Amino acid sequence: MKNIKQIQLGQNGPLVSKLGLGCMRMSSIWGGPMPDETESIATIHEALDSRINFLNTGDFYGAGHNEMLIGKAIKSRRDDAFISVKFGAIFHNGHPIGMDFRPVAIKNFINYSLTRLGIETIDLYQPCRMDGSVPVEDIIGTVADLVKEGKVRHIGVSEITANQLREANSIYPISALEIGYSLAERQIEIDLLPAAKELNIAIVAFANTAEGLLTGEMKTPLSENAYQNHFSRFQGENLVRNLEKVEVLKQLASDKGYTPTQLAIAWVKEQGDLFMPLVSMSRRSRLPENITAMDIVFTPEEMNTLNTTFAVGAIVGGTYLQR
Ligand SMILES: NC(=O)c1ccc[n+]([C@@H]2O[C@H](COP(=O)([O-])OP(=O)(O)OC[C@H]3O[C@@H](n4cnc5c(N)ncnc54)[C@H](OP(=O)(O)O)[C@@H]3O)[C@@H](O)[C@H]2O)c1
Repeated sequence: MKNIKQIQLGQNGPLVSKLGLGCMRMSSIWGGPMPDETESIATIHEALDSRINFLNTGDFYGAGHNEMLIGKAIKSRRDDAFISVKFGAIFHNGHPIGMDFRPVAIKNFINYSLTRLGIETIDLYQPCRMDGSVPVEDIIGTVADLVKEGKVRHIGVSEITANQLREANSIYPISALEIGYSLAERQIEIDLLPAAKELNIAIVAFANTAEGLLTGEMKTPLSENAYQNHFSRFQGENLVRNLEKVEVLKQLASDKGYTPTQLAIAWVKEQGDLFMPLVSMSRRSRLPENITAMDIVFTPEEMNTLNTTFAVGAIVGGTYLQR
């Protein structure tokens, strides 16, 4: 398997793989059955072997299970991995029950995360949201204290507004913005992305497949137990209209000899040097396909087709990413 290119996180920040491994779906985040742990660990090992070193988790993914899984996987190869952890969401039995960004809570969370991961320093630590309950200054200031204590190397943020990003960066240099971004989710191009680019903050873009919509494998109606049924994007007439757009992606993928998912990932990485596609892969079989996506280039005509078909607002209905 070939090696992956690198990306710099923020001004003078660390070099990490340009393709990130999202580990969230290796735990039972919304309840439901637990994915195969042996396969998950083998996937992390194979990713590290391919120099995909950026591993993404949250302390609330599986209520700590995800961090313990990553801890097991990196036990004898800490130096091969760059660990990115989110904090602040509180889950119980697969349901979100609140957020906690109080400084005293953050100083508590980090110790549990370090223990579960079995490491001494988290490479990138970030609040999962900024919900207004605690001033941005206090949240980032607290994480900056953790940098001084040697428990954190770099600070990131996730799912915030352009103003919050500017404020956070004025308190401590922000290395990365973790944000939902795909052909189907482009609203952040209006003000958040310009702010991140101006500040030279890396964009760790998740949900590249838009909850599976862009894989080309979705059919209407969805099966009754599909979790996507909760979101208006996947309901009734919305889903019919959205799948019509996906047909254009499928056709282009077929013409180029790739899968729709590969094109969806490639479109994100083609947005520039600051962009990292952060992709969930819970099984080894995903890796070769998604690594190959990192070499795909588009002609100006192909890019134009994608950008006009999936213009801002073209995909109708929402997901949990309400902005
Ligand atoms: N900051 C936040 O608020 C936030 C929110 C959500 C997620 N995240 C992070 O971002 C990562 C990615 O997000 P995501 O899981 O929502 O989106 P995603 O990467 O689009 O993954 C969605 C699904 O696509 C599947 N997939 C991957 N490669 C595929 C391929 N080549 N063909 C077909 N299907 C493929 C994955 O399946 P398998 O799992 O079966 O391999 C996964 O179930 C997460 O793991 C998490 O670390 C952050």
